[in-house]
Amino acid sequence: MSERMKLYDNHGRVINYVRLAVTDRCNLRCFYCMPEEGIDFVPRPMLMTYEEMLRMMRALAQVGIEKVRITGGEPFVRKDLMLLLRGLAETEGIKTINLTTNGTLTAPFVPELKALGIKSVNLSLDTLDPKRFYEVTRRDEFDKVWRTFELLLKHDIKVKINSVVMEGKNDADLIPMVELTKNYPVSVRFIEEMPFNGGEAHENHWHWRRILGKIKEFYPETYKIQDEPHSTSYNYAIPNHSGTVGIIAAYSRTFCGTCNRIRITPQGVLRTCLYDNGVMNLKDMMREGATDEQLQIALQDALNNRAKDGFEAESRRFMGLPASESMTTIGG
Ligand code: 5AD
Ligand code: SF4
Repeated sequence: MSERMKLYDNHGRVINYVRLAVTDRCNLRCFYCMPEEGIDFVPRPMLMTYEEMLRMMRALAQVGIEKVRITGGEPFVRKDLMLLLRGLAETEGIKTINLTTNGTLTAPFVPELKALGIKSVNLSLDTLDPKRFYEVTRRDEFDKVWRTFELLLKHDIKVKINSVVMEGKNDADLIPMVELTKNYPVSVRFIEEMPFNGGEAHENHWHWRRILGKIKEFYPETYKIQDEPHSTSYNYAIPNHSGTVGIIAAYSRTFCGTCNRIRITPQGVLRTCLYDNGVMNLKDMMREGATDEQLQIALQDALNNRAKDGFEAESRRFMGLPASESMTTIGG
């Protein structure tokens, strides 16, 4: 293929990025993501196999998908994840593979991630304090995450730290997290808390402007830098810091206008927005014998009916119920 095909949605946005959640399971229980107990995980036969994922990604790459991010749940909880990553690295048309991980099980795989050409990893880490880490994640695993962080940097893999800002839980970490960018070449991104926690509603107390205000209060010289195209974060630098700081307005949904991504859940459900509740099941189509072309047509059909933003997607949900399921079923 000389000239690559491009996928567009009904609002003229190019779609070239898939976020593929490989499991809904996780070894942590982050407060903003899952309740402590009583979570119904997807039965294994309902999960896509790696073969199905690779076939699906081959078909999607043929029509313009160039970038894939592996998410979960925690991707490394799924057995033999490296088999999938190796397969993706060989998939024609896929130019970029990224990964979002909580870092607890990741360290042994870092050298191979590097060898496969993975250039950037998002590490979910909400606090630098082991005690608060326990309070947020309900597990005592801070040291393992920190080791992964250091190993990634040692292997020259770019690290973006995702930190959800929660009133009374980790707001004391905001400035220490920014301080981390002083000596480490890391991008720390603060995320507004979204309602996706599989349980009772949490309010978002930290609107992105409040986060920015707090950063500027401590670092008055903070200045705006150019965001990457299709970025979901507003990015800032501080003089003499080696890293940068970003804010993701995930609740305010300010980034929808340039959204280039779709999501695929571990069961194979296609979501054209973080806030929709699934528009079709690609795994079921494959198991019913769909050809690659049929998958591609189905995707284009879904894109022809895509909500213009996260507010419209949310209002279209089944019976208008507000979004409250766990992020683990959506894939970060
Ligand atoms: N609100 C905001 N971010 C969330 N994440 C998970 N649940 C939520 C939520 N309710 C983030 C985690 C992780 C990414 C995959 O999604 O921080 O980094
Ligand atoms: Fe696991 Fe990530 Fe959810 Fe935390 S946010 S419980 S690490 S999937």
